[in-house]
Amino acid sequence: MLVIDVMMSRQNSTGGPYHHTPVMLNEVLEALTLRGGNVYVDGTFGGGGHSRAILESSDCQLIATDRDKNSIQYAEELKVSYGERFSFFISKFSKIPDILRDSSTSKVDGILLDLGVSSFQLDDPKRGFSFQVDGPLDMRMGENSLSAYDVVNKLKEPHLAEIIRDFGEERHARLVAKKICEYRDSKKIETTSELSKIIENTIGNFYKKQPGKSIHPATRTFQAIRILVNDEMQEIIYLLSNLTNYLNQGGRIVVITFHSIEDRIVKNIFTHLTENAISKSRYEPSEKSILDGSFNYPTKKFLIPQESEITLNSRSRSAKLRCIERTDSLFRENLDIYSMNKYEEIIRALV
Ligand SMILES: C[S@@+](CC[C@H](N)C(=O)[O-])C[C@H]1O[C@@H](n2cnc3c(N)ncnc32)[C@H](O)[C@@H]1O
Repeated sequence: MLVIDVMMSRQNSTGGPYHHTPVMLNEVLEALTLRGGNVYVDGTFGGGGHSRAILESSDCQLIATDRDKNSIQYAEELKVSYGERFSFFISKFSKIPDILRDSSTSKVDGILLDLGVSSFQLDDPKRGFSFQVDGPLDMRMGENSLSAYDVVNKLKEPHLAEIIRDFGEERHARLVAKKICEYRDSKKIETTSELSKIIENTIGNFYKKQPGKSIHPATRTFQAIRILVNDEMQEIIYLLSNLTNYLNQGGRIVVITFHSIEDRIVKNIFTHLTENAISKSRYEPSEKSILDGSFNYPTKKFLIPQESEITLNSRSRSAKLRCIERTDSLFRENLDIYSMNKYEEIIRALV
């Protein structure tokens, strides 16, 4: 974990100017119900768009994290403007409970997660996130042991197919995995363009045949690889299932998701945290069933961006914002609704 200590100019790592428009900004500020003196957490600081608006809108304290060191330059700008009110840590957001404990912050009033990739990550060819620009197969958001190169060149074929199916919802996953493995038998796959071409040549025709399907044939496979490389689902599950005791009554968890897999996980965890405690099990003593959930929904179950926002910022088009609020009910432990062990085994079995 690294606390910011450097000041750099506002450029992306390719040297060009960096622009980031925070998604669903008004909805986020409203959902967090900001109040002066309260403490908030931005777990996905990125270019600091949401963080800046939070600090601007209320005289609050903000603790922010991002796993990507390139966020430091944007965090330093906020440090200059907001001083002691703002602190920043290079860290995975699953470590937020540890960060709060270490900084003697027992409880906070709101947590924001704006999931996915920052514009500065996506737009930088060297990071290898995009099939639209050529670059090395990397896709690491921070320092993690596995890169996209490892996944594509070292995963066993059935495992690769499983990942592409589970994390990409690609219905032609087995075919894509087969062609990737045939190709790499003669030559390692080194670049985003190389991988994108293999996928396009394999399933491009299926996508052309589906009218209204405007996504590129490589979209789903790239998404799946990125999720595995960054352990993205495990991160969400771990944090959301360990936050309850760190929120004051009335404190809110606000999450913006960008695809159906992460949204389903957030939705299921929120359902679990908001439903009547323990009432689902017929083996529990009946008096427990009258306990309320430790969270409730303060507004609609989810919000989507206004048409006007989508017109101005096409990256917002798949966003969904979900929000729950801490009640005063007891916390129900044991949120083991997903087992990610399967994916850990797949990684251990790299060829
Ligand atoms: C969509 S961007 C956030 C943009 C930000 N809200 C803004 O307004 O500039 C997502 C950011 O979350 C970071 N991120 C994704 N998963 C993370 C994790 N598990 N822990 C910490 N940061 C993560 C990424 O590095 C990326 O910078």
